[in-house]
Amino acid sequence: MKVAVAGLGYVGTVTAACLAANGHDVWGIDVDTAKIDDVRRGLSPVAEPGLDTLVAAAVSSGSLHATTSYVEAFDRADVSLVCVGTPSTPRGATDLTYIRRAVDDIATALRVVTPPAGRHHSVVIRSTVPPGTVEEVVTPALAGLADSGIGCGAAMCPEFLREGSGVADFYQPPLIVVGTADQRVAASMTSLFGFLEQPVQVVDVRIAEALKYACNAFHATKVSFTNEVSRLFRLLGVNSREVMSLFCQDQVLNVSPAYLRPGFAFGGSCLPKDLRSLLYLARVNSADMPLLAGTLATNDLVISEVVDRVVAHQVRTVALLGLSFKMNTDDLRESPNVELAERLIGKGFDVRIYDEVVNPARLIGANRRYVEAKLPHLGRLLTHQPAEALRGADVAIVSAYDQPVRDALAQLPPRYVIDLSGRLGAQIEALPGYEGLSW
Ligand SMILES: NC(=O)c1ccc[n+]([C@@H]2O[C@H](COP(=O)([O-])OP(=O)(O)OC[C@H]3O[C@@H](n4cnc5c(N)ncnc54)[C@H](O)[C@@H]3O)[C@@H](O)[C@H]2O)c1
Repeated sequence: MKVAVAGLGYVGTVTAACLAANGHDVWGIDVDTAKIDDVRRGLSPVAEPGLDTLVAAAVSSGSLHATTSYVEAFDRADVSLVCVGTPSTPRGATDLTYIRRAVDDIATALRVVTPPAGRHHSVVIRSTVPPGTVEEVVTPALAGLADSGIGCGAAMCPEFLREGSGVADFYQPPLIVVGTADQRVAASMTSLFGFLEQPVQVVDVRIAEALKYACNAFHATKVSFTNEVSRLFRLLGVNSREVMSLFCQDQVLNVSPAYLRPGFAFGGSCLPKDLRSLLYLARVNSADMPLLAGTLATNDLVISEVVDRVVAHQVRTVALLGLSFKMNTDDLRESPNVELAERLIGKGFDVRIYDEVVNPARLIGANRRYVEAKLPHLGRLLTHQPAEALRGADVAIVSAYDQPVRDALAQLPPRYVIDLSGRLGAQIEALPGYEGLSW
């Protein structure tokens, strides 16, 4: 393929050199003439292990070129990869100036070099851009081209390489994700990256854009989480390196997909209590733990959002399907569903509650005391039949997802179904009043 790479920084130079090494005819473009001069002399304009050698070999074999001219680079190019910077504005927004300029230059160049009839050009964003950028910035800039008979489409293909190991990461990416609705762009990218071991996953363009932010936010959170707990452990005389080394050995709950599905607030008898203990220890030892303090705050927001949605629906009767903090337990301590019920009752809603396992008469100890304080009339509100809770309800708030709950929702669908677990299945998700909590 002839590939144009716009922006010869860390991402662009690694991408250009690796694709050239793989036999493609690659044309790097930059507005910075010093970078163009470097590449033309066979030097990498950025310091990355192994990159100088790759650039030198690709330039001398004639598979890598550098230019400031979009027209030269786009003449008969099949694919362009946009790798320009997307820095922060002083207020933290993503500055899309370079993206806009590059895409406008691409549109102008494609008009000048007009791909021959039947040929198609894929404009692929590799820079990190907010969800909506391809649809709102890139596609409109290319919109007029089709009227001139130029076939082209756009995609987002997030880059996951890390500086310092960019070349190695290019060849072994954790994921290859192409966000596009254009089959020709998808096919072109699948062929371009087909030599890598990872499969190319084609998704909705906004998913590809959002994914990169989720990854980087998670990586940043991991670093800060480790530093935050370690700061406290050091003050407590605990070897944090040993703790974290053991922590990472748990690949069932800690370093794993566990707890990473969008869903309802955390709760139960351990997580809130133990987080509070840590925060207390931090306070008395004069250590700040803003990340973990924020965790409790964000958890509370999840509950508030459900209450706000019910209020916004202007309804009267609410069926809460599922009361304990997860299915198949009768432990109600710090269940976010109990908190939800308390807040809704406090706001005057007529709340009916279904839970298969909870039996007020059999609750004992701390569990009983917790419910008596929070929901003293639980016995009157509770039923063991989901249909009984649903009959006449305007809205169902559903965290249980067993078959009786699904059947009852299908038979007696209320006006609104607010799904807290995301596990109700396609039939319930197709109901007209269905709402996912954060999906
Ligand atoms: N650096 C990383 O490790 C990394 C990893 C993954 C994703 N990203 C993302 O990739 C993008 C690029 O990052 P980078 O670190 O390579 O940036 P960079 O600043 O090193 O390089 C950007 C290059 O684009 C050039 N440029 C600006 N406007 C241009 C235009 N209109 N036409 C041609 N060239 C133009 C600049 O001169 C510069 O050489 C960013 O969105 C970044 O968030 C970076």
